[in-house]
Amino acid sequence: MKKAIELAPDSWMPGGKPDPLIHHQHGHVGKSVSRIDGPLKVKGAARFAAEFAPSNMTYAAVMFSTIAKGRIASIDTSAAVTAPGVILVMTHHNAPAMKPMPLFMTNARAAGGDNLPIMQDDRIHWNGQPIALLLAETQEQADHAKSLIRVSYEVESAITSFAAAKAQGTEPGMFMGEKMKVEIGDADAALAAAPHKVSATYRTPRHNHNAIEPHAATVAWDGDELRVHDASQAVAHTAWSLAQVFDIDEKLVHVTSPYVGGGFGSKCLWQHQVLGAAASRIAGRPVRIALSREGVYRVVGGRSLTEQHVAIGAQEDGRFTSIIHTGVTVMSRQNALPEPFIVATRSGYAADTFKLDVEVAYMDMLANTFMRAPGEAVGTFALECAIDELAVELAMDPIELRIRNEPDKDPTQGTPFSSRHIVEAYRAGAERFGWNRRTLPGARREGEWLIGIGCATGTYPYYRMPGGAVRITLAQDGRARVAVAAHEMGMGMSTVNTQIAAERLGLALDEVSVEYGDSTLPGVILAGGSQQTAAIGAAVIAAQRLLVTELLKLAGNDSPLAGLSADEVGGLDGGLAKLDEQDRHESYVSILSRAGRNEVTVEAQAPMPMELQHWSMHSYSAIFSEVRVNVVTGETRVSRVLGSFDCGRILNHKTAASQFRGGIIMGLGLALMEETQFDERNGRIMNASLSDYHVPAHLDVPPIEIIWTDIPDPHTPMGAHGVGEIGITGTGAAVANAVFNATGKRIRDLPLTLDKLM
Ligand code: MOS
Repeated sequence: MKKAIELAPDSWMPGGKPDPLIHHQHGHVGKSVSRIDGPLKVKGAARFAAEFAPSNMTYAAVMFSTIAKGRIASIDTSAAVTAPGVILVMTHHNAPAMKPMPLFMTNARAAGGDNLPIMQDDRIHWNGQPIALLLAETQEQADHAKSLIRVSYEVESAITSFAAAKAQGTEPGMFMGEKMKVEIGDADAALAAAPHKVSATYRTPRHNHNAIEPHAATVAWDGDELRVHDASQAVAHTAWSLAQVFDIDEKLVHVTSPYVGGGFGSKCLWQHQVLGAAASRIAGRPVRIALSREGVYRVVGGRSLTEQHVAIGAQEDGRFTSIIHTGVTVMSRQNALPEPFIVATRSGYAADTFKLDVEVAYMDMLANTFMRAPGEAVGTFALECAIDELAVELAMDPIELRIRNEPDKDPTQGTPFSSRHIVEAYRAGAERFGWNRRTLPGARREGEWLIGIGCATGTYPYYRMPGGAVRITLAQDGRARVAVAAHEMGMGMSTVNTQIAAERLGLALDEVSVEYGDSTLPGVILAGGSQQTAAIGAAVIAAQRLLVTELLKLAGNDSPLAGLSADEVGGLDGGLAKLDEQDRHESYVSILSRAGRNEVTVEAQAPMPMELQHWSMHSYSAIFSEVRVNVVTGETRVSRVLGSFDCGRILNHKTAASQFRGGIIMGLGLALMEETQFDERNGRIMNASLSDYHVPAHLDVPPIEIIWTDIPDPHTPMGAHGVGEIGITGTGAAVANAVFNATGKRIRDLPLTLDKLM
């Protein structure tokens, strides 16, 4: 595989100006650096949201509705109110006035998972809605008091089955302001005329979020000031949104979240933080509200189900004449995410015609939401299985079929690709994995086990959302502090951004610290869309340039740097140097002490993400898997996985490999076991626990090998693409295609449980 090459001028900078420092390498970026926050976590010294213990704290328990729709006819709290240790029983009768949460994606600062009234009336909107909150001196007392509440409901008929939802009619899905609909040419006619074709329906189930840290917040009011220790991937958004809910100035809300035990799209603002804050206000005491695992299933949305139809028409040589990818997903009326399963199909392959469409059916249920690679994770399952099916129909190697349909520009948008080396990733992966040892379906058997291999492509869009900003403070001792309202959910953000800042500033890693996870710091940055590092990196680069300008002013005429412009100067060896004449150098310590300054602080915004208008930008992967399927029990064991990634420049080999591997493990769960059991009679989630909802455990995870192209994209900050969500993408299809190769059985419904293979 290729090693990092020199970067061309990066067009994402303002005015398309070349960024001189991107050539300047100190060896921090691209290194395998261990997690800076690792030792704190190992020692138990990293404090999570439910581990703050302000004095006089109270503990919350939440009671959930058991009907999907209707109203609370009566709620008898008399026994709960007088139970031992109880401080407050809050229901719609005594909850304070609050506005609905601003719904995520309805503006740049909104963080709400739904926009329903919160405990403002007797209406029930989903099975599991919070209907009472209890505060007590201990968690056990709160939980006990909850068991004493008696509720009766007036039940109304609700739409809780997929069939009933579809029967009501569907509406076009909108995602990120775009209609999820693409029509190019007459795809139906091209399919009908194609000499080779496949056409099939694929189904993917609901998934629930199961981060290792269940959602929690510790909340306190000081007068009108609201302090929240949250588990958040959107601290600034959450602070702003809470200010709207309680109708107070945003400056009065302070949200921190330095450590998050996994987010995957779920750690935004849901009703529990709002209810905790409301109860704290009434009680006049701090509140810890920690959802139980079941509570997370009731209050925090998950991934919605899909029913996807994929049809592909091909010529004799395998070239696609038609790609049809349509179908239906379900959502609630109170959220902003129709699982956008066609996103990867828009740019995956060349074809003469396209018909892509996401339709939405509505149900009375908890608002569904983002879950790692929303759209792509399940959309590529359908698309990449269909391509495997077409390869069988054509009697062609499925990798060869993909390569024959490799587009030279974005096939539906027409824009050039900024950096796409998927063919290279396939070739390297195939060789390393031993793809040439693949047999015909059902041909390889060891005792009771049929063995097969399969592959699939993953793609995930490159995003860089507006709002990136950082503050850099350079102190007289030559050390730098970077401050940014960013999030460490376990992906290595703080480590990678220390590397990026140290590289730009010409400092050692231990001379740079990154402060984050605090809504009062600069930036409105989402740890989502796999874009956080690009958003921060662009701001770090902008701030560093501003810092150079400031320092050159301070350095004045007595410096070896006298007369140079900021564009000619970069960070090197603890100071600034002329880029092409590095002897002209002055240390930060010298510049600041000559100027009599203790420190210099700059704050800068990242430039607007103009690169996205010029280029089609994505992370790519080729996923290979080997499975063993038991002919007696139908049990599938994944025995080997290899992920070959093309994600631009890899900024930290250790943390990136961990992201890829983690995504693949989540993809194994999607392929083989994850499924929310939703009772279609009453909208109740039946398996709201990790004993009934299965995710991969250690013994389910085989050796996973990770390789990458490491080819920088000249059009992104640092040359990098996102690495957070690409790993899960393609993995479901790679497993399903391997199961077909092992058994000759094509399963089009996830998860691939043993009953479907018997
Ligand atoms: Mo991710 S689903 O954008 O946290």
